[in-house]
Amino acid sequence: MRRFRRDPLEYLEVCARRSPAEVFRLPWGAWCVRDTEQALTVLRDPAFHSGISTFFGDMLPSRANQIALGRAVRNLLRSQLPAYRRCVTEAAAGLGPVSRWPEAGPLLVYRCTADVLLHPGAPPALRRQLAQAVAAGLTARQPSMRQRARAELLRPGLLAAIIEHVRGRRAGGSEQGGPQDVLDAVIGACPEELTDRTVANLYVLLFQSIVGNIGYAVAWTVLLACLHHPPGPPWPWPAEWLVREAARHRPFVWMVGRPAPHPLEFGGLPFAAGTILSVSPYLLHHDTHRWDRPEMFRPERWNGTERQGPYLPFSTGPFTCAGAAVAHSLITETVTALAQDARLTVSGGDARPLVSGSVLPRPFALHRTLKAPSEARAHEGR
Ligand code: HEM
Repeated sequence: MRRFRRDPLEYLEVCARRSPAEVFRLPWGAWCVRDTEQALTVLRDPAFHSGISTFFGDMLPSRANQIALGRAVRNLLRSQLPAYRRCVTEAAAGLGPVSRWPEAGPLLVYRCTADVLLHPGAPPALRRQLAQAVAAGLTARQPSMRQRARAELLRPGLLAAIIEHVRGRRAGGSEQGGPQDVLDAVIGACPEELTDRTVANLYVLLFQSIVGNIGYAVAWTVLLACLHHPPGPPWPWPAEWLVREAARHRPFVWMVGRPAPHPLEFGGLPFAAGTILSVSPYLLHHDTHRWDRPEMFRPERWNGTERQGPYLPFSTGPFTCAGAAVAHSLITETVTALAQDARLTVSGGDARPLVSGSVLPRPFALHRTLKAPSEARAHEGR
């Protein structure tokens, strides 16, 4: 466990290399499927997907409810893409010459999704609490105890306020003409018998997926691009390639699991029903048999001419992320806005990840220098 804590991803790679079997034991008792083919089988085979997805825990009673909720939130976010694009250009410009990352990632995303997460007519105090929660780092499990304690301190109060607001909205009945915000979408997709607390927890789960996952993915993309390109000239890669390569090199979600549906033999070993078989997108993204020099950050591998290996930053198969496409667009829009008419450099950061619940970048400063107007126009004309 000590070796795992020191560097979880390296630990994983060493175990995968040394393991004589296709499946090896993780320090917390689950099993990790090392072999790429077998791992993809776990994520795609209908046998592992006859029940409900563990993403929602046991908060929703059926798979149909889970699908409906994912789609409702995804569709709402998709409809807001043009508004997001407009807002993020302005928000990136307002970042100032030096900003502190990775926390600036979720803050930036929150700033441009605040009204779709909770519409402006909602109680101002609740909107303030949400903003404070983002600033305190509640959108991802923080790596240090101190940061975690600071963020978690806000959770009970925030949850109580959301529960009260959910109660009010549910009592008021559904709005005509579709959801006004993510909370409406969650309430609309939840069966009536669910408690207000469960609805509030589902909202928080989706809130974190939107603000945290997207915000930290932006942080990784900017950091890796700056670390791999000399300061001065604009990045030679389209934002699209950068976003894909950052999610391959440092996937924010490093492990997904599926419970064995019944006693089964897998990779030559017997497993009891309910044993968690885990798949690591990180391991698959670094499989030297499937990717050319996977340890290197090379955005040009996405230029359409190179062989691609297994790519699953949003997982794959029947339980794949419902928001994958829209999340990818939002990350790309944000990175594009940050790089627009500006030179970006970083200080204080490196590519080593901090692994807690997910894969987070270490603290770094982003220096954003605006190009001279003539230079910016010349770039536009290209
Ligand atoms: C960078 C952004 C994101 C990443 C990396 C990400 C990643 C993931 C992963 C790895 C899963 C687990 C799938 C599995 O168990 O196999 C998942 C599930 C899910 N994600 Fe995302 N996600 C992101 C953003 C979003 C957004 C913006 C939404 C909003 C709609 C969203 C909604 C969901 C839902 C509803 C599920 C459960 C899917 C199901 O079981 O049907 N995610 N996500």
